[in-house]
Amino acid sequence: MSRLLKIYRNRNYVWPDDVHPPARTAELRPITFDNVSQVERLRNASVAAAFRRFLDSGRFGVFAMVDGIVAGHAWVTPPADDPQVVNTYAKVAAGESLVHYCYVAPEQRGRGLYAQMLHETTAWAREHGATRVTVDTSVDNTASQKGIQRAGFTEVEPTTSVVIGRRLIYRRRGDLPTTPA
Ligand SMILES: CC(C)(COP(=O)(O)OP(=O)(O)OC[C@H]1O[C@@H](n2cnc3c(N)ncnc32)[C@H](O)[C@@H]1OP(=O)(O)O)[C@@H](O)C(=O)NCCC(=O)NCCS
Repeated sequence: MSRLLKIYRNRNYVWPDDVHPPARTAELRPITFDNVSQVERLRNASVAAAFRRFLDSGRFGVFAMVDGIVAGHAWVTPPADDPQVVNTYAKVAAGESLVHYCYVAPEQRGRGLYAQMLHETTAWAREHGATRVTVDTSVDNTASQKGIQRAGFTEVEPTTSVVIGRRLIYRRRGDLPTTPA
């Protein structure tokens, strides 16, 4: 299991500074040790365990609440003094924060909850000194790409990352190879 090979082909986006927050349609509640277990109803216990590790490492997360129930979540890393690898595949620069681990309940999709959570996590990172806020998504994830663009992020170069086990062994920036016709 520890030698599992994973290839991440991602599209990447950066926060452009001059974007206005979207209209708020859901309560956004910071994720804390007191409320983190509420995600188990939407996801499962292993997601809740991952969230506890995120909290331990100083990340900030939000729940989108609809009718008092957790309907979505998003996380962002605090800006670090040095470049770092996040979630095994992503390289973030000094001063950069990465928005990640976003999810919206299937029955709540298409209503813009994603954009609201992206703005909230981005705002937290900026308030905590991030000079650049980025978000990435798989090249296959059209729904996520549309949501990120709707939130106002600007696309930058795609990346390919190769991870074996939990080790990033290769990362390339630039256009992804196209399949010959
Ligand atoms: C990606 C995701 C977070 C988007 O959340 P959202 O709140 O629905 O985002 P938006 O309302 O901005 O909708 C984004 C796109 O989702 C698609 N969408 C709309 N309704 C949908 C539905 N009922 N079911 C699935 N996708 C839907 C549409 O393509 C929409 O864009 P469009 O309206 O311009 O066509 C959500 O689809 C999700 O949780 N997916 C599974 C986990 C995931 O991919 N997370 C992101 C990893 S980077």
